[in-house]
Amino acid sequence: MTERRKILVTSALPYANGSIHLGHLVEYIQTDIWVRFQKMRGHDCTYVCADDAHGTAIMLKAEQLGLTPEQQIAKVKAEHEQDFADFLVNFDNFHSTHSEENRELSELIYGRLKANGHIASRMITQAYDPEKQLFLADRYIKGTCPKCKAEDQYGDNCEVCSATYSPSDLIKPKSVISGATPIDKESEHFFFKLPEFDAFLKDWTRAGHLQDEVANKLAEWLDAGLQEWDISRDAPYFGFEIPGEKDKYFYVWLDAPIGYMASFKNWLSQQQGTDVDAVFDEYWNKDSSTELYHFIGKDIVNFHALFWPSMLSSAQFRTPTKVCVHGFLTVNGKKMSKSRGTFINARTYLEHLNPEYLRYYFAAKLSSSVDDLDLNLDDFIQRVNSDLVGKVVNIASRTAKFIQKSGGTLSANIADETLWQQFVDADATIAEYYEARDFGKAMREIMALADAANEYIAAQAPWSLAKQEGTEQQVLDICSLGINMFRALLTYLKPVLPALTEAAEVFLGETLSWEQPVGFRGGEAINKFKPLLTRIEKDKVDAMVEASKEALAEANAAAAPAADSELGKEPLADEINFDDFAKVDLRVALIAKAEHVEGADKLLRLTLDLGGETRNVFSGIKSAYQPEDLEGKLTVMVANLAPRKMKFGVSEGMVLAAGPGGKEIYLLEPHSGAKPGQRVM
Ligand code: MSP
Ligand code: ZN
Repeated sequence: MTERRKILVTSALPYANGSIHLGHLVEYIQTDIWVRFQKMRGHDCTYVCADDAHGTAIMLKAEQLGLTPEQQIAKVKAEHEQDFADFLVNFDNFHSTHSEENRELSELIYGRLKANGHIASRMITQAYDPEKQLFLADRYIKGTCPKCKAEDQYGDNCEVCSATYSPSDLIKPKSVISGATPIDKESEHFFFKLPEFDAFLKDWTRAGHLQDEVANKLAEWLDAGLQEWDISRDAPYFGFEIPGEKDKYFYVWLDAPIGYMASFKNWLSQQQGTDVDAVFDEYWNKDSSTELYHFIGKDIVNFHALFWPSMLSSAQFRTPTKVCVHGFLTVNGKKMSKSRGTFINARTYLEHLNPEYLRYYFAAKLSSSVDDLDLNLDDFIQRVNSDLVGKVVNIASRTAKFIQKSGGTLSANIADETLWQQFVDADATIAEYYEARDFGKAMREIMALADAANEYIAAQAPWSLAKQEGTEQQVLDICSLGINMFRALLTYLKPVLPALTEAAEVFLGETLSWEQPVGFRGGEAINKFKPLLTRIEKDKVDAMVEASKEALAEANAAAAPAADSELGKEPLADEINFDDFAKVDLRVALIAKAEHVEGADKLLRLTLDLGGETRNVFSGIKSAYQPEDLEGKLTVMVANLAPRKMKFGVSEGMVLAAGPGGKEIYLLEPHSGAKPGQRVM
């Protein structure tokens, strides 16, 4: 037996203002599989999580719903816990960052950072909503771009001309919350002196705690130089007040990772006969020999691999053993999309499909890299049906009935020693793949064994053999090997498919454990086989996608349009005559290619064919169109607009589109017989 490891594992804490969706589940399922694996191997593994309950967004969301923040976070917590439970994500504890443990620990850590001289304070000027009496983060301010005059641009950059600016440069800036014009206001802020950890981080990020690709990315940031990190927010804010200050709160990201410690501490306090402080110290003291694993998505690496280890080290706590970073989920090769119905909530999935289908599919797709992973819905159906129903469960359903016929007891004869040995020998390889989070490789190894089992059963054909005289023992031996191969496969799959395994355990009359290599079980009785898993039906998947579109329609109807359309009040521009207008050369253009622009939220890059000449045009229509839906379409463009240099390249013209915005932007489309290059007027 290997040494019993003590491992504390976390997944990132989901925000308490939204529902869990399939993207989140990549992480919680990945972590849960790893934890179940460690537990099965006999290690002392504790998996904690919590809701991330603080911040302006949650405060505003509660207000919008007419709830107190406490009511809002309690409601969401109950919803999150049910979603996770139904996806078989088995936390040892699910807590909240808005908890006494977290307040105490946040105050303790902040106090140590301050005592060590790692907190600075200074006055900063920020936009302030005088009506709502709230400081406004850039994303809560919109206005007209000072450079190109595009309306409705966010407070820090213009999506149309790519200018970057500060919110105070916006023309007619408006608070997104109240519509009031923001004013500049000074206030004192507190900063964590991250630059003092430069040497520590250059070392720590290269010391085996991170995937190489993550360490390389961080090296770029470290080389660019670290900035002090603003960790305070002014009232009103939903969070913890900073001790010794008036109306100052910890920024949500300061106390969020401390929530990992708080959830662990809360869990300890629920364990009978545990000396909470002693065990907490054993896991978190700076020389701890226990292991600490954080599973996170690639979007929150800086918080976990720069700020968090620095805070821990200043506060004299241990730093993480590993920060395991995964990529983002795409559905059918594209970013999850509400209009396509591929932004699927956990609950919507559960209303249509078995959670273990998704657990298996994610396992089959997951690796230790930070690459994005794709849920291709056709492949999902095919893969689950073929692997789980067609291969794994099929082994039991084809052999169990012959064991029943001969009395229900497994034979102790191993009908094919070499084949069985393959199942035993695979143990170490599969375990290594699990340990390294290479779940996809583990699944392939397991399915190769399932293939071997099925080939064996097909070749032996116990159903034909059983028709002949005097073959009873032979049939029993073959089928007993079949059941044992099934036992081995399910042992290896148990971290991924706990419910299927549980049902199989009832049939097998035993609990499958993996502390020792699997042994051959003979001379013991098994129970009557009942179907363990049904095939995924395509219409269920289609219905789930449709329901996700409906959920969006409801959400849209609920969000009343902001009263920010001031077009009617806009004074008219100087009059032009027809000749002026005729200067605009409008041409039919074929959209030969449409692509996303990396780093642009609103723009698509269009390659327009004018019948012999092509133009590169950036257009702010991304909220309404998917690139692939545009390709091959005809539209109308201003062909004689002077080229404009933008952040992402030169735009050589403009396509004509109109509408209120968001999903409702309509590209002008000529009749289908129009020829590219043809003049429109
Ligand atoms: N509250 C912070 C985390 C604080 S940890 C101290 C947060 N919350 S989140 O709800 O936005 O995301 C929770 C986790 O889900 C993050 O690790 C995030 O990367 C992951 N994912 C959210 N959307 C995802 C996909 N579409 N795909 C894969 N993972 C995704 O960030
Ligand atoms: Zn602009």
